[in-house]
Amino acid sequence: MDRDSYVYKTPASKLVQVAAIAAEYKGRPDMLMTVIIRAQKVVSAFSKEVASVIAREMDIPMNKVYSFITFYAMLSVKPRGRYIVRMCKSAPCHVHGAQAVVQALEDQLGISIGETTEDGRFTLEYCPCLGLCEISPAIMINEHVYGNLTPESVRDIIKQYIREDVE
Ligand code: FES
Repeated sequence: MDRDSYVYKTPASKLVQVAAIAAEYKGRPDMLMTVIIRAQKVVSAFSKEVASVIAREMDIPMNKVYSFITFYAMLSVKPRGRYIVRMCKSAPCHVHGAQAVVQALEDQLGISIGETTEDGRFTLEYCPCLGLCEISPAIMINEHVYGNLTPESVRDIIKQYIREDVE
């Protein structure tokens, strides 16, 4: 874990909400994934404070919580954008033109993979196979999936998010 991971401060009101979720599963380490998934709807990043609140309320070791969080690539320890644009990095998508789609995304958003736009709206990142190989190349924006992408079609999708603030 690099030191940058601990820089972000989670607002106290969010910590209270996470604490309430975690307290429902006190003494249930088997429910850690459930708590983390629910907490992810409250906080945009899993800071040190969030991990320690979960550990305290569930009564499980802090290092267990943090190693669990960092194990899963789709969970973040840094603040991320409101829209997480995940580009599949696996071979079938690559073969079907993922690189051109990534280039279009980077050009349009003005960021590279792994970065967040200055306005905090979009984060661009790679992910493993999304299970959508039959419609590769594919991306996921929050819970929405898009396939058979081209540079043109992905630009239109992003334009729609910019214009309408898709939920
Ligand atoms: S390889 Fe991209 S969705 Fe499966």
